[in-house]
Amino acid sequence: MRILTFANLKGGSAKSTTTFNLAASLSEAGLKVLCIDLDPQKTLGEAFFGVHAGAETLSSALINDSAIEDAILPTDFENLFVIPADDGLKGIKSGQTQLEGGELRLRSCLMRLSSMLDQLGGSSRIDWILIDTPPSLDRLTMNALAASDYVLVPVDPGAGGRGALGDTIEYVYSARKWYNPTLQLVGLVINNTDPRTIYDQTTEQLVREIYGDLVFDIVITASVRVRESAESRVPLVFCDSNEFVRYANMYRALRDEVLQRVG
Ligand SMILES: Nc1ncnc2c1ncn2[C@@H]1O[C@H](COP(=O)(O)OP(=O)(O)OP(=O)(O)O)[C@@H](O)[C@H]1O
Ligand SMILES: [Mg+2]
Repeated sequence: MRILTFANLKGGSAKSTTTFNLAASLSEAGLKVLCIDLDPQKTLGEAFFGVHAGAETLSSALINDSAIEDAILPTDFENLFVIPADDGLKGIKSGQTQLEGGELRLRSCLMRLSSMLDQLGGSSRIDWILIDTPPSLDRLTMNALAASDYVLVPVDPGAGGRGALGDTIEYVYSARKWYNPTLQLVGLVINNTDPRTIYDQTTEQLVREIYGDLVFDIVITASVRVRESAESRVPLVFCDSNEFVRYANMYRALRDEVLQRVG
């Protein structure tokens, strides 16, 4: 089981969109994937299930030590499962609700899940857990980083996002220093960009100059198709119509590059 977190302090940098579509492209390749929505905005859970009140199962696992496997829901897609966010996460994010185990709480829940699945064996295995986080460097994001093998940073290369990007990478380094020495920064993925414009070409080039090989080769370009797929609750690789193929292929290429980078 490999655990990958998506993080960027900057709001709207395509964390949830990347989680949604990369999870689907991994599952399309026959890998069994569990997504965890750790953001009280609930964007990822809503992309799969629409707006829903939902039971407070995830926050209860974190706060009360109930079993995290009870929070796993199947989706309409084979090999793809989701633990949706719930309102109980708000108190954890704000610090009003204390967590026994603090920053290591999610890590301990997932270690227990992993050993339970190992004991069951066979079809119970999970190959990948993908964790979506809020646009802030708070206790929820640190719990995700402390629990993960890998972190991927989706980037909007425009001027408004570069300071936040530096802060996000600093935060990854502190997660590594204080909680998770083996945490690996897989890289930065440029998203939601229009390579036909000089502005987007220049900002992409600047990010590549600063971060070098950390930046993925694949770039996810901006298109209304990406938004349409999330709104219709169907990840791009499972959208039937021809207009979606080009964007579905970007997420297939992203999957291949992630798998290549993690070895
Ligand atoms: N390639 C793309 N083309 C067009 N729109 C996109 C693309 N990627 C993301 N978006 C849109 O940009 C907006 C922000 O994306 P998303 O919600 O994934 O960001 P986020 O980082 O998760 O935001 P938050 O920080 O609020 O959690 C959404 O409306 C999404 O549909
Ligand atoms: Mg989000």
